[in-house]
Amino acid sequence: MRKILVTGGAGFIGSNFILYLAEKYPELEIVNVDRLTYAGNLGNLAGLDKKTNYSFEKADICDWERMAELMKGCDAVVNFAAESHVDNSISSDDEFIRTNIGGVHSLLKAARKVGLPRFVQISTDEVYGSLDTGAALETRALDPSSSYSASKAAAEMICLAYHKTFGLDVVLTRSSNNFGPRQHPEKLIPKTIVNALNNASIPIYASGKQRRNWIYVMDNCEAIDLVLRKGNGGETYNLAGETELENIALVKKILGILGKPESLIKHVADRPGHDFRYAIDDSKIRGLGFKIRTGFGERLKETADWYVNNPQWCGSWKKR
Ligand SMILES: NC(=O)c1ccc[n+]([C@@H]2O[C@H](COP(=O)([O-])OP(=O)(O)OC[C@H]3O[C@@H](n4cnc5c(N)ncnc54)[C@H](O)[C@@H]3O)[C@@H](O)[C@H]2O)c1
Repeated sequence: MRKILVTGGAGFIGSNFILYLAEKYPELEIVNVDRLTYAGNLGNLAGLDKKTNYSFEKADICDWERMAELMKGCDAVVNFAAESHVDNSISSDDEFIRTNIGGVHSLLKAARKVGLPRFVQISTDEVYGSLDTGAALETRALDPSSSYSASKAAAEMICLAYHKTFGLDVVLTRSSNNFGPRQHPEKLIPKTIVNALNNASIPIYASGKQRRNWIYVMDNCEAIDLVLRKGNGGETYNLAGETELENIALVKKILGILGKPESLIKHVADRPGHDFRYAIDDSKIRGLGFKIRTGFGERLKETADWYVNNPQWCGSWKKR
């Protein structure tokens, strides 16, 4: 692979993915396309400024003609661009439908026009909806609950339609909750860390007993790279970490790491449509050789340290 286009590369996972690629494949030409919404931060990629085979284009993935121009000569596109915060989709979901569905359609149309060799769509375990027990296999029927997860599920369907109808080489990943450096402070782990460091209260929905699986962002990046290179066209891969935790237990762990009191936790009314538990079976990606080498506790500590050591970054966000 010589040249790759990454969309949404100024966001949390996209920027970590670009940093991962730049280190692992120093010769690879990387084009980062991002609209720089409230969630995009070019400061995430400051270290790449002097690299000649990295470039940034401010553009909207919904502009399919621009996307087709940018895709020319690329061996693959990995699409991270999305509205990603479920809470925001409750107050207003227009941008979720526009970017997460319309934007993916626009990218697929462009990919088809230029004859792109491979398209990777980054999806989410939230498309399965809430599971009382067990873990979802990739073949499980989708049952999304929010406009966010429904828009991601719709995008998946359009991707697979382009594979079946037009022969476009598309692969999908569905990962669990990511954590690590450079995540917008609207999300649970950075919000807990940032609020705790400021001795501000930490809001927790209802009992806080909702359960989530957590994957360290660089593990997710490694798995995405594996799917990009070795995944079978038309197939979907669940990407999970090894730890499932109640939200309240996670917040208490972080407070413990930071030496802050649990009295900062403030229970607030639950959000509408809140899924209680996500769980995915990741045997398929493990079959491709994926393995997590560093445990959750160590990664959580490293993550907390990163936010502690980057207070300017934490304060650099635009208001939504
Ligand atoms: N964060 C998670 O835990 C998680 C878990 C599973 C799947 N995902 C998926 O991974 C992807 C990345 O998530 P994230 O947490 O990094 O999101 P993020 O919100 O941090 O970043 C999204 C990026 O997309 C850009 N963007 C938004 N609309 C755009 C548009 N129309 N055109 C171009 N760029 C646009 C934003 O500017 C931002 O840089 C998303 O598709 C999300 O659904 C995230």
